[in-house]
Amino acid sequence: MASFLGKNLPDSIWKPDVLYLPEPLLEAHKSFLEEQGWWAEYDPNVHGNIGGATADEAKEHIINRFLNSAARMGFVCADPMDTQPEVREMVLDQLGEGQIFLLDLAAGNGAGTLSMLSLICELRAKKCVPKLPVNVHITGVDYSSAALKYYSEIMGKLDPWLKSNGLHVNLSLCPCDLAVVGDFGEVFESFLDESKRASVNRFLCVISAISGINSEGMGAISDSLKHAATGLSSKKRNSSWLWVEPHIGKKKAWVPKVFVTVNLTLKKIAHRFIQKGDTFDIKADDEVPTLEDAQPRSFQWLDPYKNKAINSNVIVVAFKNE
Ligand SMILES: C[S@@+](CC[C@H](N)C(=O)[O-])C[C@H]1O[C@@H](n2cnc3c(N)ncnc32)[C@H](O)[C@@H]1O
Repeated sequence: MASFLGKNLPDSIWKPDVLYLPEPLLEAHKSFLEEQGWWAEYDPNVHGNIGGATADEAKEHIINRFLNSAARMGFVCADPMDTQPEVREMVLDQLGEGQIFLLDLAAGNGAGTLSMLSLICELRAKKCVPKLPVNVHITGVDYSSAALKYYSEIMGKLDPWLKSNGLHVNLSLCPCDLAVVGDFGEVFESFLDESKRASVNRFLCVISAISGINSEGMGAISDSLKHAATGLSSKKRNSSWLWVEPHIGKKKAWVPKVFVTVNLTLKKIAHRFIQKGDTFDIKADDEVPTLEDAQPRSFQWLDPYKNKAINSNVIVVAFKNE
């Protein structure tokens, strides 16, 4: 694929210094909130929670955090300033044509993945990228059944638009606690089995907005993340990993260590991932890639409901098994 630059973005996505979310994604979110009778509750200034531990948290997240999460993913995939073009290239390449199996971990209401698909669809609709047919088989994993239900409803609303632009999505949603590696192992096995049946060896694992989990919770799910990375590490597979988080402050300086252990596992590089109190350490005999280059970025996106530009920040890491 010819290289795509920030200056090629349509003005439905980027007008100087402000990111716009694709209109069909906004319509889908808004009509979902209206149908639930939750539209009047939209107030992004209320203090956020991490998402899905309870039905109330799942509800609050879909009302008030969905757009912000979608904006972070949209910004790093559009990359208007060409700051980390390898991320945009990876996404456009992996979802450009053919078939791909996408594992959405701690998927919640799917804000990140739905935003990524909507951006690609908008680029296709505006003829910025080719409209070749692509089949995306998504497995979304989260312990919140409520959040997964919202994911499926919003996907249902977007589906006709995605299809009309050649993006054929098959969504399987799996309620599962990632802290129980045995349960996740079964979900992951089915995911791989399905890919084998479809003779597909292209994979993308997406993680978006989970750094709200405390270090104990992250320690508990890290075995599942590494289990997925191990399964996708085979050289026979073409595996990519995309991880998008809000800016991680000093208090959460341990989060990048989790990025590193997943990257090293995916690349089959020997190391030890050690939990030390409320932080983590990586030990390896040889020098290992540290992903230190990932710098937080600030940006603005338009909140269409309040017609107001919102300041946000994001960090993204993307890596492959080779
Ligand atoms: C802030 S939400 C992010 C949702 C979505 N990925 C996004 O892009 O906005 C964090 C999600 O992590 C999920 N989560 C937290 N701990 C989990 C666990 N142990 N197992 C499965 N899901 C978990 C929560 O249910 C919640 O849906």
